[in-house]
Amino acid sequence: MASSIFNAPCTVPAVNGKNYFGLKPAVNNDLRFDVGKTTSIIGCPKRVFTVRASEKKDGPLKKLGLNDAECEAAVVAGNVPEAPPVPPRPAAPAGTPAVPSLPLSRRPRRNRKSPAMRASFQETSIAPANFVYPLFIHEGEEDTPIGAMPGCYRLGWRHGLVEEVAKARDVGVNSIVLFPKVPDGLKSPTGDEAYNDNGLVPRAIRLLKDKYPDLVIYTDVALDPYSSDGHDGIVREDGVIMNDETVYQLCKQAVSQARAGADVVSPSDMMDGRIGAIRKALDAEGFQHVSIMSYTAKYASSFYGPFREALESNPRFGDKKTYQMNPANYREALVEAHEDESEGADILLVKPGLPYLDIIRLLRDKSPLPIAAYQVSGEYSMIKAGGVLKMIDEERVMMESLTCLRRAGADIILTYFALQAARCLCGEKR
Ligand code: PBG
Repeated sequence: MASSIFNAPCTVPAVNGKNYFGLKPAVNNDLRFDVGKTTSIIGCPKRVFTVRASEKKDGPLKKLGLNDAECEAAVVAGNVPEAPPVPPRPAAPAGTPAVPSLPLSRRPRRNRKSPAMRASFQETSIAPANFVYPLFIHEGEEDTPIGAMPGCYRLGWRHGLVEEVAKARDVGVNSIVLFPKVPDGLKSPTGDEAYNDNGLVPRAIRLLKDKYPDLVIYTDVALDPYSSDGHDGIVREDGVIMNDETVYQLCKQAVSQARAGADVVSPSDMMDGRIGAIRKALDAEGFQHVSIMSYTAKYASSFYGPFREALESNPRFGDKKTYQMNPANYREALVEAHEDESEGADILLVKPGLPYLDIIRLLRDKSPLPIAAYQVSGEYSMIKAGGVLKMIDEERVMMESLTCLRRAGADIILTYFALQAARCLCGEKR
């Protein structure tokens, strides 16, 4: 039942389990209930909404045919109509110590005492419209399961991808981000396949836009899936990741994605100055309307392990610590945020998500721009693994973690749980 969702705002709880019945919540505030209709536009399937205010036990009370004045006169005359008695005080179990009540002027538990009150005072909401669904694609025709990410697949771009997008849209998730698994034969030290207009990503974008013109498509801008070195930039002989030369390639990649129809390009590479350069390149080609979501505070995290397995994009040597941020750093996120803001980023992203809630809150408080959080592969896989082993309740932990990312200040969340969580919010089970 819907009220099992972690304090979700869509949950109108059953009071006493009696007063409200037949409720099927919709979570997207933009959606209106159309009684009797089951079609969906770009939200949850519409549901019939039935609220019964009271149960008929002994039938309705008989009216005596008195007017207001007669009713008042009866009460003044001491003829007070009967109402249910004052309820008895519930008994405590035998052995409960008898203590004087604490002299508290504030008892915060008062506002939590019933599901209806908790729903009234919930500060954070979460809806399918807040999710961006990351999807792995490949050239194959079949969908290949990703071992380290139960429930995730490398989707065939012509079939599985289109079907997965349709499922997501059915429950109100209308934003996706694409990650390609590129054949080894197309990888090179300079990652030139990244800006092939007929490459996997541009082809997939064109196909999706043809089928779903209103789908919001985010793309990843970085060389790692295309680099024979598995790094986000061009690697010099001595192992140094070359900054400005990489930015040159990224500009071409972003323009190629925009040309195919991408709505938001998302540089995840962490090179310096790439936001300004990409903005300039997009504008020069007539793509003023294409947004940039910058991976502003992207940390050199071990939580990306399963993702790299998914794309077979592990760095061939070394690590990404000369461009991704040190997980021990907080203030440095502000340096990146100031740069990205002044270079024209439209959205600032923090990655990973849950272990970096303080950074999300920092950017939320310091920047007027929308904030995105990326609940990365390792976070997803840990919750899945805990669920499979029956160590935690997967669905509740999933909803709680997503709600916490919103509470910390994320407007949107990139999450592999997007479909599963949206189904939950729409009151559907898999
Ligand atoms: C690479 C990229 C990575 C992720 C998104 N884009 C991996 C990395 O930086 O090595 C990780 C996403 C995840 O772990 O879910 N540009």
